[in-house]
Amino acid sequence: MAKEISFTFNGNKLAITIEDHWTLLHLIREELGYNGTKEGCGGGECGACTVIINGAAVNSCLYLAAEIDGKDLVTIEGLAADDGTLHPVQQAFVEKGGIQCGFCTPGMILSAKALLDENPNANEDEIKHGIAGNICRCTGYVQIIDSIKSVSGFYQEEEQAPVAAWDGHDGPLDD
Ligand code: FES
Ligand code: FES
Repeated sequence: MAKEISFTFNGNKLAITIEDHWTLLHLIREELGYNGTKEGCGGGECGACTVIINGAAVNSCLYLAAEIDGKDLVTIEGLAADDGTLHPVQQAFVEKGGIQCGFCTPGMILSAKALLDENPNANEDEIKHGIAGNICRCTGYVQIIDSIKSVSGFYQEEEQAPVAAWDGHDGPLDD
């Protein structure tokens, strides 16, 4: 059955007619055309489909599109600033080698962002717990955890201008 919903999508209000059996993953990829959110297992096991809903990391393959009505949805396409400046977590993944494939990375980054938004000083154990639902099939967790550690403690929650609080010097990414 068709249903009209409206929600905030990467900072912009969006109204759309959906079918009530659609998953949020289907809505994002197939209807809206944003392919940064990946489909892996399709059953809540791998985390490749992770998005952020009202600040929390969620598996979009298990989430009905109808449930996003009235909520705030962020996908990987919504992290960079309008001028293309990467979000600090994205930049850390680039600089610390956390990006090893295009499949698990969007979900990893969004889980890390949700964690650091809630706990900006997350330690290694908390980081491991925060990405526990995101599987890296090539087991490259060392670089992924190092990437997140490099911004933990320095991270500023600035949704519109995520790096504005940094002066570009003495940041966590400078060795
Ligand atoms: S595709 Fe959603 S958890 Fe694997
Ligand atoms: S880096 Fe993507 S699956 Fe390992």
